[in-house]
Amino acid sequence: MPKRLVYLDNAATTPVRPEVLEAMLPYLGREAFGNPSSPHRFGRAARAGVDQAKRSIAEALGGGGGGGGGVEPAQVIFTSGGTEADNLAVIGCALAARDRGDPFRVAVSAIEHKAVLAAAHAVAHLGGEEIILPVSGSGEVADAALNEALARGVAVVSVMWVNNEVGVVQPIARLAARCRDAGVPFHVDGVQAFGKIPVSLSDIPCTLFTISGHKIGAPKGIGALVVRDRHAVEAIIHGGGQQFGIRPGTENVPGIVGLGAAVELAAREQAAFAARAAALRDDLERRVLAVVPDAVINGASGPRAPHVSSVSIPGTDSEALLMHLDLAGIACSSGSACSTGAVEPSHVLTAMGVPRELGVAALRFSFGKENTEEDVEALVAALPKIVEKVRHLSAVLHR
Ligand SMILES: Cc1ncc(COP(=O)(O)O)c(C=O)c1O
Repeated sequence: MPKRLVYLDNAATTPVRPEVLEAMLPYLGREAFGNPSSPHRFGRAARAGVDQAKRSIAEALGGGGGGGGGVEPAQVIFTSGGTEADNLAVIGCALAARDRGDPFRVAVSAIEHKAVLAAAHAVAHLGGEEIILPVSGSGEVADAALNEALARGVAVVSVMWVNNEVGVVQPIARLAARCRDAGVPFHVDGVQAFGKIPVSLSDIPCTLFTISGHKIGAPKGIGALVVRDRHAVEAIIHGGGQQFGIRPGTENVPGIVGLGAAVELAAREQAAFAARAAALRDDLERRVLAVVPDAVINGASGPRAPHVSSVSIPGTDSEALLMHLDLAGIACSSGSACSTGAVEPSHVLTAMGVPRELGVAALRFSFGKENTEEDVEALVAALPKIVEKVRHLSAVLHR
């Protein structure tokens, strides 16, 4: 009998949903292959697909637009994914501020995705400055640090809504209001939030908001940045005048249509998905603790999104656990990074004050719409033997 494969790595990526593929097919084939900038019928057919996707995304993010605080279709700027959207937000705001003679300085939280952290670093490399906002033990950005950064003057503050490694949820509405009151653009990386927790930008006065397609059943290589104030950002890619010159380049029409379809589905299914994922996560954590009683759930003291669980298993290292789990047909992620041959805890766990020995022993399990109780069952059945093996090996190596 073929081995049952278990995919618990949905925060890394998800398969393309059949409904999304279906929506994309006309734009991949001969039916609507035109360049959306062309005025003829071929171009108009492609443009119609792009415009529909913008409407779907604006609607799913709160709709309404205008002064009411929602999102207008024209504010949706397509990019090659979450990474590019994050770079456009952070570097684009910094360049726009420099041009205006405002501080060439950005502030980002210490637990941001590398797309934001490295973009902030790039600003520093260009002669600007990066401020890293520390977080508490539960992963929340400290108010005092934000206030200090705002008092110094920054081009943009960037804080993710949901962290991709531990699932920590930030008080985004409060942080956004604080930045708005200070007159500073606020960027939210919403890649792990959208579709997982209720997201409506009608209530959130953020200037910029990132989403990525492949986390919600659209293909890899498509994402969007909602830009509510065009003057806040300067382009970081130069070319034709597409997308108001904010992100020129011929649009990835099939990807955009796929993103629009995936966003619509994710918004409609969010509440049901969250309930199912939270039940699976709680079950996983309870049952892992039953078979590995000294396991530690990271980030559990604060609010968490339902689809991510970070579990440290003392006396092991996550790379070895990951390898053995893979051999058993179970896919998840590690909470550590292998740099220069040594396993190091991730910057997220380090920033949250997780001790090193737990940081190097962290696994991330993340749920998607296809996971079931049987997946948790398979993990819990395989885990004790694997932990025993890895602990034994680790004890021998460190003797
Ligand atoms: C929070 C967060 N931001 C940004 C990204 C980058 O998105 P993409 O893979 O579309 O470049 C990811 C993907 O891992 C993510 O989890």
